[in-house]
Amino acid sequence: MKAAVYKKYGPPEVVQVMDIQKPTPSENEILIKVYASTVNRTDAGFRSAQYFVSRFFSGLFRPKYQVLGCEFSGVVEAIGGNVTLFKAGDRVFGFNDNSFGGHAEFMCKSQDDALAIIPAEMDFHQAAALSEGAHYALNNIRAAKVTAGQNVLVYGATGAIGSAAVQLLIDMNVHVTAVANAKNMGLIKSFGVDEVFDYEIEDFTQTKTRFDFIFDAVGKSSFKQCKPLLKPEGIYISTELGKRGANIFLALYTPLFKGKRVLFPIPTTDKEQMEYLKSCAERGSFSPVIDRSYPLDHIVEAYRYVESGQKTGNVILEIAS
Ligand SMILES: NC(=O)c1ccc[n+]([C@@H]2O[C@H](COP(=O)([O-])OP(=O)(O)OC[C@H]3O[C@@H](n4cnc5c(N)ncnc54)[C@H](OP(=O)(O)O)[C@@H]3O)[C@@H](O)[C@H]2O)c1
Repeated sequence: MKAAVYKKYGPPEVVQVMDIQKPTPSENEILIKVYASTVNRTDAGFRSAQYFVSRFFSGLFRPKYQVLGCEFSGVVEAIGGNVTLFKAGDRVFGFNDNSFGGHAEFMCKSQDDALAIIPAEMDFHQAAALSEGAHYALNNIRAAKVTAGQNVLVYGATGAIGSAAVQLLIDMNVHVTAVANAKNMGLIKSFGVDEVFDYEIEDFTQTKTRFDFIFDAVGKSSFKQCKPLLKPEGIYISTELGKRGANIFLALYTPLFKGKRVLFPIPTTDKEQMEYLKSCAERGSFSPVIDRSYPLDHIVEAYRYVESGQKTGNVILEIAS
């Protein structure tokens, strides 16, 4: 089968499309014929090993799993002897940032992994983009214990994480203020946000609103900058470590005191999350934003675009049609 393989950490060019052996499912696994995946910041982070810490998960000297692709959609082609949750022919989507594998024509995953059946009306491209950005968004929203009626600011509302966060928050009846770029104003307003700031010409820190939670989904702000906008017990979370890892240190000591706090939750994934995202999609409250698609053979180009920091939502990798 065809797969995008990386045997060493480095720039997009370390990834090569080649033929490798088709996997066989073990007793508890399903074999998925992959139709689509995404190329995203998680794949890029593990491929480049830009943050050395990722090597503790993916292999100290070289990648343990050589096919990336943490989110995927496809059809169950075969099942192991103990599988009861899925059957051949099921349309499935899922997320796995441990063993990855979506950048290939076939993959095996345990039936107990973060997998779910694709909503009936949804195509493979949409389904492939349901989980990476959204699971980070959901982890952070849940860590901040957001409830209906609260005010939340999402900085960087046009990335995979930001665009999912805005939609999931609005679904929870939260008042959302977004910071984005003029080119995506129409998109952001279509989600139903209360207020939008164009980061190129407006200063969001001038807003009169005070927030229960500020979520920086692109890691471009700081706690110092956002602190005056938080309510007395408000929470700040960023998807990046911050200058000299500031967000880690702030997350260690600000929760020790009463008042405004920084959190840095470690994201986790499971079936419940996939079912939750599926239910949001089914009731029309969450629709992953798709920027553009690349065929598997053009994966290096896809990585270059993703790493430009300019993508709007998700970049699809087409594996089968
Ligand atoms: N290391 C990892 O494993 C990992 C995994 C996932 C995510 N992350 C981090 O999480 C963040 C979000 O990732 P993502 O995939 O959702 O999106 P992304 O690709 O990083 O973000 C792209 C979006 O950010 C917007 N943006 C860029 N500069 C901005 C600014 N100064 N103010 C407001 N918006 C700005 C861009 O909008 P315009 O094009 O309109 O400017 C674009 O739509 C990234 O920082 C990423 O590194 C890291």
